[in-house]
Amino acid sequence: MKIILDCDPGHDDAVAMLLACQHLEVLGITTVSGNVPLERTTENALKVVELGGIKVPVVRGAHRPLVREPHHALDIHGRSGLDGPELPQPVTPLHGQHAVEFIIDTVLATDEVRLVPTGPLTNIALALRLEPRLAKRVPEISLMGGSLTFGNRTAAAEFNIYADPEAAQVVFTSGIPIKMSGLNLTHQAGVGRSEIAQLRQLGNRTGTVVAAMLEFAVGAYAQVYDQDYYPLHDPCAVAALIDPSLIQFQPYFVQVMLEGPARGMTLCDQRRRGAPYWQEPNAQVGIKLDRKRFFDLLIDTLRQYP
Ligand code: RIB
Ligand code: CA
Repeated sequence: MKIILDCDPGHDDAVAMLLACQHLEVLGITTVSGNVPLERTTENALKVVELGGIKVPVVRGAHRPLVREPHHALDIHGRSGLDGPELPQPVTPLHGQHAVEFIIDTVLATDEVRLVPTGPLTNIALALRLEPRLAKRVPEISLMGGSLTFGNRTAAAEFNIYADPEAAQVVFTSGIPIKMSGLNLTHQAGVGRSEIAQLRQLGNRTGTVVAAMLEFAVGAYAQVYDQDYYPLHDPCAVAALIDPSLIQFQPYFVQVMLEGPARGMTLCDQRRRGAPYWQEPNAQVGIKLDRKRFFDLLIDTLRQYP
């Protein structure tokens, strides 16, 4: 299965990259401003491909949301965006294009390229607006973002959607089939001390580095949210494509709130068909994760790296 992974590394994005590159044909890793500013998400993506010996082009994208001022999550990911481990210095040069051009050119030139965004949806929205043919050529978008229930950046909104709600609006109204891995799902993929210990026991550099990444993230979540685990948000969007049996989805009409206190909320209509103002579903929303098999996949994948 061919994909483009669009991300804002970010601790969970880094794990999503390692998971995707072992199981899917990743044609490119595009970066976007999100968890930290673009220069650092891009630097982090280059460091992760170096860590894994991954031969996939890294392509820099949008340096800020479509309309809103940039909004970052240094409280979770640290100043570098990947605080915690020592990471190898990048050797691979950046791919020369802008991510939006790369996405358009790749999707026009190659059939059946799925998009897997795990950060704010700025690059995806720009590509859809610049090249309308993409909406018919992209078979599916599997994204990490939104929530059926609670938010994290605000009571209502999840970070990726909150950071660029207008971009999310473009994606959710594009007509492209969407798998949405939101917070209600990704919090079922919580990493704690035992998973970190399993990673350290792999005995390889990647396991040790990812353990250090997650140790930092668990500490940040304890500080910011008083939770004793770190949800592996972004790997859920990748796992949904690797093994569809890992996640149960339900079709809902999802509306992105653009203004007011609920800005960035993904309002999912769970009422029955035909209820007042009911609309046809525009997304498959993740409901239930097979947590054991998800972690078995993750550990087995990281074992395969140097
Ligand atoms: O809300 C979680 C999402 O925001 C994840 O993608 C994380 O990496 C941050 O981008
Ligand atoms: Ca992310």
